[in-house]
Amino acid sequence: MRRLEVKASRSYEVLIGEGILEEAGARLKEVASPKKTAIITDDRVRELYGDIVEKSLRDAGFETENYVFKNGEASKTMETLWDILEFLAKKGLTRSDMVIALGGGVPGDVAGFAAASYQRGIKFMQIPTTFLAAIDSSVGGKTGVDLKAGKNLAGAFWQPSLVLCDHRTLDTLPDVTFSDGVAEGIKYGILSSESLFESFETGGFRENMEETIFECVSIKKRLVAEDERDNGRRQLLNLGHTFGHAIEKLSSFEITHGHAVAAGTAIAARVAKKLGLTGDGEVLRIRECLEKNNLPTGTDMELKDIAEAALSDKKRRGDRITLILPEAIGSCRLYPVDKSELPGLLEGCLR
Ligand code: NAD
Ligand code: GLY
Repeated sequence: MRRLEVKASRSYEVLIGEGILEEAGARLKEVASPKKTAIITDDRVRELYGDIVEKSLRDAGFETENYVFKNGEASKTMETLWDILEFLAKKGLTRSDMVIALGGGVPGDVAGFAAASYQRGIKFMQIPTTFLAAIDSSVGGKTGVDLKAGKNLAGAFWQPSLVLCDHRTLDTLPDVTFSDGVAEGIKYGILSSESLFESFETGGFRENMEETIFECVSIKKRLVAEDERDNGRRQLLNLGHTFGHAIEKLSSFEITHGHAVAAGTAIAARVAKKLGLTGDGEVLRIRECLEKNNLPTGTDMELKDIAEAALSDKKRRGDRITLILPEAIGSCRLYPVDKSELPGLLEGCLR
């Protein structure tokens, strides 16, 4: 088992290993003593792992309640959030109780937001079951829901009290969901570690998933510790996301988050090349790495639509939007541009 400490407004541990799901109750007992726990998950994850987690919590002496919603991004809404809040109130959870987000990024984000807002904030624990959630969404305290205008437009920074990652759960992921996580893993490589990137080029990352997750989370935790509220260097973690969120939204979420981020990353690399920040070699390596992992490297959507949708990104401040652009494999930079420059920059870069 690997263990990491995330230092933020609330500091907490991330435990990564096989069999941790069965230990959820005992592990929770080490950090908190809620009377009641509310497991928030989606229908697919409930069927696969709900009973294991529930049994573990009950065996450790916790009362458990279950809230289950339909799996998929379409559930990451104010309506689901509202329903969860009503559920927590109906079940009588108090400020000393605990919300447990079980599943991928969707249960994690919406349950986290419910925990942040219920009674002005109760504690929560993350149990990620997708590769994406294991290496990204379960750590760092970003919680939220989508609005009609765009992704993640309502939310809160609310750190979990504990993250338990049992990477055996990744064995049941459909290929397309697994590769969503690969897109975020490649992102970490481009941001901060050429050797990690190479492991995605060669497929070597699969040989030791515990280590791969550990390495990705180590990169994220450094940026979170430096800039918890996302006003500076943490924004680097959004490589591929400005264009990715636009693609995801324009596809009405038919294109999954990770696949959209992959396309957004390749687009960002081409924009960086156009600006003279990086070279042909880097653009090609990024493209080939994404292709090897069955991920898209661009979009056929209209440029004006992408540019317009990208402007609803949270990284926009007034008329400026900060792009994250690769300079080398292992190094990226923040690059603020005026919103009027965006269509021109994207010209010739979408595919
Ligand atoms: P998801 O939670 O919708 O999971 C994808 C699918 O996999 C769902 O159908 C789910 O039921 C299924 N699933 C989950 N675990 C499974 C398992 N072990 N076996 C079989 N099926 C399983 O989506 P995701 O890709 O995990 O997360 C995407 C979301 O995360 C997006 O909304 C994105 O905005 C968000 N996100 C948040 C952050 C953050 O920092 N908060 C970071 C990155 C992404
Ligand atoms: N996934 C981006 C962040 O956590 O900042």
